[in-house]
Amino acid sequence: MKNKTIVIAISGASGSIYGIRLIKALLALNTSVMVILSDSGLKVLEHEMGVKKDEPFKEFLISYGIDINKVMNLEIFFQDEISKSPASGSFVHSGMVVAPCSMKTLAGISQGFADNLITRSADVCLKEKRPLILVPRETPYNLIHLENMARANRAGAVILPPNPSFYTFPKTIENLVDTVVARILDHLKIDHHLVSRWKS
Ligand SMILES: Cc1cc2nc3c(=O)[nH]c(=O)nc-3n(C[C@H](O)[C@H](O)[C@H](O)COP(=O)(O)O)c2cc1C
Repeated sequence: MKNKTIVIAISGASGSIYGIRLIKALLALNTSVMVILSDSGLKVLEHEMGVKKDEPFKEFLISYGIDINKVMNLEIFFQDEISKSPASGSFVHSGMVVAPCSMKTLAGISQGFADNLITRSADVCLKEKRPLILVPRETPYNLIHLENMARANRAGAVILPPNPSFYTFPKTIENLVDTVVARILDHLKIDHHLVSRWKS
């Protein structure tokens, strides 16, 4: 059976580790991944994850511990590459996640302002009724943020805020982040054992 393909966008909100852990988990589960990086997303990756300026993103992922053989199932695009596959409804994939999703990218998606490869690919997901999961990161939210989330949700997006859970007693930042990544995988309908499930 052909591997699933998931599109992951990393925009310029704090928490680029959510996108990185999601890429790692999906590749480990033999899923093909297309990553779209916004310009600001790259800046935050440099600041928060130590990605070096001009360092090929694949090299960073390998240095982060992602299996070099799995990296073959990964394609990387930048926000200006508007003609790449996910920009077209005729390219079929299994869903898109924006993690983290900045308030600017959220605004673009919720208003149909498809001015780059991230907002266009999300717009395509909504029109094609494919899963679109937004991981909006800001605190606190103002009314514009909340209304944009409600609008995106009404159009079909899942709003999955990066609110970690604590009932599995995460010991590291990675464990904590993975409690959110696990819920994203659930919504993508991808089987995993990333985090143990609540059972009483
Ligand atoms: C270190 C850093 C952290 C940021 N954190 C957030 C954030 O958590 N949420 C947010 O909406 N914007 C945040 N921003 C601002 C966005 O990067 C900015 O609004 C940018 O225009 C978003 O562009 P993009 O959506 O195309 O990536 C942050 C910027 C920097 C430099």
